[in-house]
Amino acid sequence: MKVLVSDPLSDIGIEIFENTPGIEVDVKTDLSAPELEKIIGAYHGLSIRSKTKVTANMLSRAKNLKVIGRAGIGLDNVDIPAATRADIAVMNTPFGNTITTAEHTIALLMSLSRNLPRATATLKDGKWEKKNLRGREIFNKTLGLIGIGNVGSIVADRAMGLKMKVIGFDPYQDPEALKKAGISLVSFDEILTRSDYISIHTPKTKETTNLFNKDTLSRMKQGAMLINCARGGIVNEDDLYDALKSNHLGGAALDVFETEPPGKINLMDLDNFICSSHLGASTLEAQDNVARDVATQIVDYLLTGKAPNIVNSKK
Ligand code: MLT
Repeated sequence: MKVLVSDPLSDIGIEIFENTPGIEVDVKTDLSAPELEKIIGAYHGLSIRSKTKVTANMLSRAKNLKVIGRAGIGLDNVDIPAATRADIAVMNTPFGNTITTAEHTIALLMSLSRNLPRATATLKDGKWEKKNLRGREIFNKTLGLIGIGNVGSIVADRAMGLKMKVIGFDPYQDPEALKKAGISLVSFDEILTRSDYISIHTPKTKETTNLFNKDTLSRMKQGAMLINCARGGIVNEDDLYDALKSNHLGGAALDVFETEPPGKINLMDLDNFICSSHLGASTLEAQDNVARDVATQIVDYLLTGKAPNIVNSKK
């Protein structure tokens, strides 16, 4: 069975492919879409991250492909209905980078609260800014989580360790289980009106696209802060700009953007906006974890027909 690794993958994953009898692996991470379409017919397994676009057109050439594995969580770059029609299993690795992403969320929350990016930039520029960069404590503040799944629940745990009060909105979670974990499940509207900080941990779907827009941002508390380490497009960037520019919101941090890289969007001009370049899952540990998971799952699926974390109707 032949596996193509078309996006960079930690060595630990490549070694699993190389050391499994019955599996042959090719690593080709710089292919253009036409180049990929030309060779995909030879492969039974495909390992990707976010760069490779798995389109219906590409899948129409993938005559031998049985499984696509994403080292990471988001599958926005895969046409899942087309894969299902072609009888190809699609899987992700939902656990390997959750701690890393939750830690990045906390890093942004602290950086926003204490103006760390501006403190670094101004001091490096020779300015000793103290008065302008006074921060705020997070102790006893309310953190509202949109989504309390694999990442959101770890953010909640870490935030409670920092003595924040955590409330959450998630129609898919059991309120009793969350209560035991110290998280009150509330309505979306309550998240908006009660939270000093809101952090988003939900996939991008029809329901969540543009969820934070002119109307919902205006219902957030005066001075509240918004963090998005989930997916670009859940927060409307133009509306966020207006909410920050007018100082209705105290600050916002985006790790993900409507278009990546975002280029010089208006938000970049604002002092109360901070950002990172989709670094949520970027640690050595997380990349090793997801590489190990995706390689193991692809190998298991190809050799036994079974593996966890399949997201379409394949078993
Ligand atoms: C993910 O979906 O796993 C993360 O957003 C990481 C990434 O896409 O690089």
